[in-house]
Amino acid sequence: MVLSAKMRDALNAQMTFELQSAYEYFAMSAWYKAQNLEGFASFMKMHGIEEMQHAQKFYDYVFERMSEAEFGALKKPKAKYDSALDAMETAFKHELAVTKRIHDLVDLASKEKDKATEAFLQWFVTEQVEEEALVDEIVQRLKQVGDFAPGLFFLDREVAGRAQSGH
Ligand code: FEO
Repeated sequence: MVLSAKMRDALNAQMTFELQSAYEYFAMSAWYKAQNLEGFASFMKMHGIEEMQHAQKFYDYVFERMSEAEFGALKKPKAKYDSALDAMETAFKHELAVTKRIHDLVDLASKEKDKATEAFLQWFVTEQVEEEALVDEIVQRLKQVGDFAPGLFFLDREVAGRAQSGH
């Protein structure tokens, strides 16, 4: 069944937002790299790649529903942060915004009586729980470390390991 125009536009807007998320995380990765925090840089790069995969899921789904994918404009991502914690907190807030958008999409699918889209979106509902928890854990660790430089470099190593293992 073809998507309703409202549903199609909302899914396309989310596809663009996922690409925007990738853009933000790649810019954060570059900032971490400039601070010689290679672990955080890898983690953010991996996160950006995941966002591109999320965008791809929306893209594929819109076509599966015999509708057209339409790309919106991307904004210039923020390039400077005050600290490793500031960047990670920004990522956390961004994930909260993604979660809200996904939940709004579920509400719209329900309003449109689009059961297939509701089912499709469930993967993202679960994924957001995982993403929020993952980023929040690193935010909490960064808060514990504070300004203690050796602690920050130790945490950077640990986060590098997570980027390699995928979590
Ligand atoms: Fe695609 Fe991190 O949300």
